[in-house]
Amino acid sequence: MNIHTYEKLWLIAAMVLIVGFIATITYGSVGLGITMVGDQQDTVEPTELDDERFSDPRVAQVGENEYEAYVTAQMFSFQPDPIEVPEDSEVTFYVTSRDVIHSFSLVGTNVNTMVIPGEVAEMTVEFDEPQDYGVVCNEYCGPNHHNMEGMVHVVPEDEFDLTELDAEAPDEVETGDDIDVTATVENRLLDPIETTVTLEIGNETVSEDVTIDGGETDETTFTVDSAQLGEGDHEWTVTVDEHTDSWTVTVVDELEDGDADDDADDESNENTDAGDDTDGGENGTEDETDTDETESDASGGDDE
Ligand code: CUA
Repeated sequence: MNIHTYEKLWLIAAMVLIVGFIATITYGSVGLGITMVGDQQDTVEPTELDDERFSDPRVAQVGENEYEAYVTAQMFSFQPDPIEVPEDSEVTFYVTSRDVIHSFSLVGTNVNTMVIPGEVAEMTVEFDEPQDYGVVCNEYCGPNHHNMEGMVHVVPEDEFDLTELDAEAPDEVETGDDIDVTATVENRLLDPIETTVTLEIGNETVSEDVTIDGGETDETTFTVDSAQLGEGDHEWTVTVDEHTDSWTVTVVDELEDGDADDDADDESNENTDAGDDTDGGENGTEDETDTDETESDASGGDDE
């Protein structure tokens, strides 16, 4: 059979194109490591993210320069916001949605993933220099889609810490009752940290030095005598490094809706409290006697 030369050339050109197309598609799907969200991770329940990775979205250290960031996207924000990581680090982001489809895209980079409810998107990113990146959502997710944004701060090593502070105290106490202010400090680094927890209330300042192991949480309770503060509103502030938490406690003559029953309960509580005090008594007394020294230490530290 005789095939015309031009027809032969066209047949060869068509073959080359077909092989070329197949090659580019194969390279795009295998060579570049682009995968579908949900290929790598188990599914989660989006409406109640009780999965411990996402119930408290956060950054945690997992290796010398390696970090994991657990991020949730919801109408119309990202959590945590801002996300803070150190320079020269490798960060693996795990991102999921609490409601509808969003996306997690670092502006000006090729870091970009769809965020699908029920699925966990995973991306590993290397950060070099300190820089701020905007995070945007580029999947239409509702009326405020255009306002859905966040930040990733890549900060210098010496400005980076992974300490979380959460302090709690009662809103209202009766004169004469103790006020317990509890500071919960979490260290999300791998190495232990040494720091000072300081409570300011009224004219009083009390401090306690703590050492917290990597990945651990420390609870420090300061007990303040409400009678010394007097009736009224008293603002308190707990400080750990650059982190602060503050609120107001009101000392009242007598708590409202105090039935006879309640009073009886209160009394029994007081008894148990007294028992607790004896247990933790050693620490408590030491704290109070140490106060002045620690204070001057702390102010000395500030001067540096
Ligand atoms: Cu979230 Cu658009």
